Amino acid sequence: VTAEKAGFDHFMLKEIYEQPKAYRETMLGRIAEDGQSVNLSKEIEMSDDYVKSISKIHIVACGTAYHAGLVGKTVIESLARIPVETDVASEYRYRSPIITPDTLVIVVSQSGETADTLAAMREAQRNGARVLAVTNVVGSSVAREANDVLVTWAGPEIAVASTKAYSSQLIAFYLLGLHLARVRGTQTTEQMTEIIHALTALPEQVESILEQAAVLKQVAESMSHHQSLFFIGRGVDYAVAQEGSLKLKEISYIHSEAYAAGELKHGTLALIEDGIPVIALISQEDLYEKTLSNIKEVKARGAHVLAVTNQGFEAEVAKSVDEVFSIPKTLPVLTPALSVVPLQLISYYASLALGHDVDKPRNLAKSVTVE
Ligand code: G6P
Repeated sequence: VTAEKAGFDHFMLKEIYEQPKAYRETMLGRIAEDGQSVNLSKEIEMSDDYVKSISKIHIVACGTAYHAGLVGKTVIESLARIPVETDVASEYRYRSPIITPDTLVIVVSQSGETADTLAAMREAQRNGARVLAVTNVVGSSVAREANDVLVTWAGPEIAVASTKAYSSQLIAFYLLGLHLARVRGTQTTEQMTEIIHALTALPEQVESILEQAAVLKQVAESMSHHQSLFFIGRGVDYAVAQEGSLKLKEISYIHSEAYAAGELKHGTLALIEDGIPVIALISQEDLYEKTLSNIKEVKARGAHVLAVTNQGFEAEVAKSVDEVFSIPKTLPVLTPALSVVPLQLISYYASLALGHDVDKPRNLAKSVTVE
């Protein structure tokens, strides 16, 4: 068993450290050699005419894969300008979603076996949608039944709490967004080249975050004494906040909530009291001032704030918070692939500090094949 963990204490930690490799493998062979475009036509069969005809996209998934779908919505809308709705599968399948022949349904599933996701996908196909599956398991049920499959090459994921599968799903969305953008002509070659350049820099940037794990261990240990904490952010930072909060709940059993930073004042601010930890994601330039003012609001009510920010904002943000963790500079749409990593490590070390079974949390299963 020790050998399988390759010297790591837990599968989760091993899988967190495998992310640079998972990113590289998921990108491999999918980016044109000149670094100017992404073409997935060798793998996905949808014609360029079909891609041009898509009028809306539904992303459907459960758990962590749903959180990847929340980022996927922003990615596709900003790169390809197609309207996207993201739903949890157990809601989608029962709400008579409006599906037309030009609706593309994207299901996201690490295992490709989640019962609700599979049922939602079948329901969509019955209603005439084309389904593209983003999955980590080549021969899975979802992969077999979908019209198109985009595989995340994260390799087997053993820990119940998903890490490298989630972040590889983000990479799949970037590639898909670039593919759709090329066919639909929504990004210039210069823009696509810039995004691809930043995309291929992510694996090394994740490595540099992993080198700072010791700092995050300390943060996690002090947070582990609290009964409750909050994650806040705007835009894709809010999507990552939701994943960070889920991860922490799953393995540390500490209660936490993720909030859209601007929504705090409509209720949740009442829960902020002296010493309560708040993890604030602040990586988006156009939302920077707004999020900073939310950080100041929770600080003023006694919160202990850890900011996860960009190298560029670090010095300024530091003036308003208790602790800062910086991620390397990248494009705004790509920050989730970096900012999720410190949150994964915080969850891991919090669970470890509390003596829980990190890889096999109580009440949870790796793949939920019953409804
Ligand atoms: C379970 C796992 C989660 C996972 C979810 C969806 O709840 O514990 O980690 O995100 O299922 O799984 P899938 O295989 O469809 O991505």
